[in-house]
Amino acid sequence: MDTTNIRNKFKELYGAAGELYTSPGRINLIGEHTDYNGGFVLPGAIDKAMYCEIKPNGSDRVRAYALDLGESAEFGLEEADKPTQQWACYIFGVCREMAKRGKPVKGFDTVFAGDVPLGAGMSSSAALESCFGYALNEIYGLGFERFEIALIGQATEHNYVGVMCGIMDQFASCCGREGNLMKLDCRSLEYEYVPFDPKGYRLVLLNTMVTHNLAGGEYNKRRQSCERVVAEIAKNHPEVKLLRDANMHMLEEVHGKVDEVDYVRAEFVVEEIQRLLDATVALEKGDYEKVGALMYGTHEGLSKKYQVSCPELDYLNEQARECGVSGSRVMGGGFGGCTINLVKDGLYDAFVATAVANYKAKFGIDAKVYDVVIRDGARKLN
Ligand code: GLA
Repeated sequence: MDTTNIRNKFKELYGAAGELYTSPGRINLIGEHTDYNGGFVLPGAIDKAMYCEIKPNGSDRVRAYALDLGESAEFGLEEADKPTQQWACYIFGVCREMAKRGKPVKGFDTVFAGDVPLGAGMSSSAALESCFGYALNEIYGLGFERFEIALIGQATEHNYVGVMCGIMDQFASCCGREGNLMKLDCRSLEYEYVPFDPKGYRLVLLNTMVTHNLAGGEYNKRRQSCERVVAEIAKNHPEVKLLRDANMHMLEEVHGKVDEVDYVRAEFVVEEIQRLLDATVALEKGDYEKVGALMYGTHEGLSKKYQVSCPELDYLNEQARECGVSGSRVMGGGFGGCTINLVKDGLYDAFVATAVANYKAKFGIDAKVYDVVIRDGARKLN
């Protein structure tokens, strides 16, 4: 993204120039709603990101300008100073979470903007948290590791936004590496980079343009379903602290003892954790048809069992199937946003044209198309 507009606005508002930082959105190949259950995820950082220019202002107040919204906010750094705008709460929350870890920041001026589509399942909010987390860490020399900056972003969602998210998005934004996906074990927090270069295939996102707002509560309800099932399983298996620790047999034992909706959701999670493991084996063998088949399995589960899809997403998924696309599924939290599609090179043009035209005919909406490019995580720009 061209940062000239950020630079110009910063100068106009605050005079002298500051430093520029960026942190990206993410894709996730497979492993959805597994992170807060201690399972695995397979995300990668992308070439769409948040950007901020930032400079300490010698006071104890933050002056922030959201260029894409044309809105400004000014707030102090004490717990009672929480701003009213949601976008400002992300910045405020990062500052507060740093202070809670014994490393307070001082006042600063900032202008930020980005090209991660909002509410599209590409983690615009994690990109924003990670951008400020990384920038403040550098400017004030706080010494947080990248993973700690991710945890600070996640805590910001929990404590200042109200989304009880897992760690996947902030982790991908902070720790991403060009050309690599990351296999993260969300229970041990160990991770490894997985080079991703699917020869003969492309990854493409189709945005339904139906935006979600995870703060709406449905996301948190999914998490609560999982926790209730874990509590029931733990009565007989105290070693089970997360759905990751459970297996199908343990799950069956509580069938009828937990709410059926909760049961079916937990079943999805246990299956999804296994699907990711199967997908990593297939990836090692270069068997992208197998990876794709597993992606369809994820979509089916997210739609029918976990119930985080919507008619628009299901339709784009069907379009992929009908066009012979190798793999397709809803990506991210769900309730709108994008499908991620694994497409053979030779099918790419026909698929995108067909899906976009049929989607327009059915819903009257122009779906947006994004080619996936895997890039580095949070960094300073020159
Ligand atoms: C959102 C959350 C993540 C993760 C995904 C679903 O993106 O922020 O932590 O739970 O949904 O996989």
